Amino acid sequence: MKHSIAVVAAVVAVGLSFGVASAKGKGDKDLKRGEELFKQHCAVCHPEGGNIVNPQKPLGKESLKANKITSWKDIVKTMRNPGPGMSTFDAKAIPDKDAKLVAEYILKTFK
Ligand code: HEC
Repeated sequence: MKHSIAVVAAVVAVGLSFGVASAKGKGDKDLKRGEELFKQHCAVCHPEGGNIVNPQKPLGKESLKANKITSWKDIVKTMRNPGPGMSTFDAKAIPDKDAKLVAEYILKTFK
């Protein structure tokens, strides 16, 4: 009997944590969308936030900072007007709203 109470408690705990996770709502959805866009447009050259074309310029915070990229706006600027070896992503390829989501995903994800 004790055992089944523990099982019920565990199930309730898992259920609760799912509830909390989904209650976070929009932020999570934005991050997910950013991730999808990143995989679609950027991951070929930046797998796991790296850089296969120019390994000196990965997407981790330190590298970005060294190149004065510190906010999502700076990342969007890079997409619109990239350095050598990177494809250009204009507003037709990735609209501003989506570009912001990709940028925020990068800032939140890669260390
Ligand atoms: C064709 C390969 C390629 C693709 C696709 C690509 N990049 Fe890049 N990316 C590069 C290269 C090469 C650089 C280094 C450019 C330079 O020397 O300034 C770079 C640099 C960057 C930097 C600056 C990194 C730093 O450490 O200074 C950011 C931010 C960035 N890319 C974001 C993106 C995003 C966001 C996407 C997708 C929308 C993307 N890239 C797609 C090749 C690519």
